[in-house]
Amino acid sequence: QPKLDPFTTLLELKSGALDPERGTPQVRTQEDLRGFFQVAPEDPDRVVYQVLPMPVPKENSEIQCSTTIIEPGTVGDEYYMTKGHFHAVRDRSEIYLGLSGEGRLILATEDGRYRVEPIREGTINYVPGGWAHRSVNVGDDPLVFFAAYVGDAGQDYATIERDGFPVLIGPGDDGPAVRENPTY
Ligand code: F6R
Ligand code: ZN
Repeated sequence: QPKLDPFTTLLELKSGALDPERGTPQVRTQEDLRGFFQVAPEDPDRVVYQVLPMPVPKENSEIQCSTTIIEPGTVGDEYYMTKGHFHAVRDRSEIYLGLSGEGRLILATEDGRYRVEPIREGTINYVPGGWAHRSVNVGDDPLVFFAAYVGDAGQDYATIERDGFPVLIGPGDDGPAVRENPTY
């Protein structure tokens, strides 16, 4: 017998709003990102990003999905970004679909290889298992993308909190600049 009933929800492509909402949005402030940016929060209560979930059981027979909305802004020399994570089950993969705004996706392996990929309206990023991923809003508007991933993937934030990513992205002379992370 099937475990779930079908459902449909409307995603407003520009803003990322879901109608009806399917779960409690997860809100991340500058304070929540303490230890992920290079410097301490400048305006601790300010919202950096939100994740709007469409929860299903966290099992590998299911497909989790959510919409992420990252506000424009900076802390120190870095653009607003997500914490970033490896999947707790390392080989679990994920797909991002860009909806609006301008962003970058930083991906890194545990042995320090990295890639920087674009996120904007219409991009599809494939995140293979074993690659940590963090998205960064490099534009002046909110960055909105939809994510779908294997249901039992889980998120390991602790490794990123300890080691960071090999590169940082912040404003440069000719637009977004990718710099080596001195504390990686
Ligand atoms: C799920 C996933 C995204 C992120 C979201 C927020 O595996 O990659 O849905 O969870 O973009 O980023 P984090 O989870 O790094 O705070
Ligand atoms: Zn993920």
